[in-house]
Amino acid sequence: MNEKVHALLNQQINKEFYSAYLYLQFSNYFKAKSLDGFANWYMIQAQEERDHALLFYQYLQNNNMSVTLGAIDGPTQNFDSNMAVLEAGLAHEIYVTSLINDIYAAAYEVKDFRTMQFLGWFVKEQGEEETNANDLISKMELFGSDPKSLYMLNQELGTRVYTAPSLVL
Ligand code: FEO
Repeated sequence: MNEKVHALLNQQINKEFYSAYLYLQFSNYFKAKSLDGFANWYMIQAQEERDHALLFYQYLQNNNMSVTLGAIDGPTQNFDSNMAVLEAGLAHEIYVTSLINDIYAAAYEVKDFRTMQFLGWFVKEQGEEETNANDLISKMELFGSDPKSLYMLNQELGTRVYTAPSLVL
């Protein structure tokens, strides 16, 4: 495997674990506000991010490439509103999309078709992640300022259940 592609794939393990950590913090934020539905939604998001990290880990191992695990940064802690959390989530997903695109571009450059195929799932996944984050912001804009509607939205988000990723390596 090309050295740059290898390094970027290895780095992405850390980025995905950071994402899990960030969403765990979001879950923690909402739990402290007794918005358990939101807390549930972000807890599942955190689980998905852990899965993403493990997919990169597994992909490198399956290709006999070394894995180096680095320190995970502390997540952003301070938010002055519920909406600020949701917006930080969207901004983070846009950033992750750019990282996936960078790895894809590096793989494309050296004709690493196997890595491009592997990353194809993540390209699609990032589209969905951004859509979900945007939808949540739209709902919050519509319902977030009225306590009754916020309660209903919280109930709705509480119904989200974890499903394992559709990509199996
Ligand atoms: Fe693993 Fe939310 O991207």
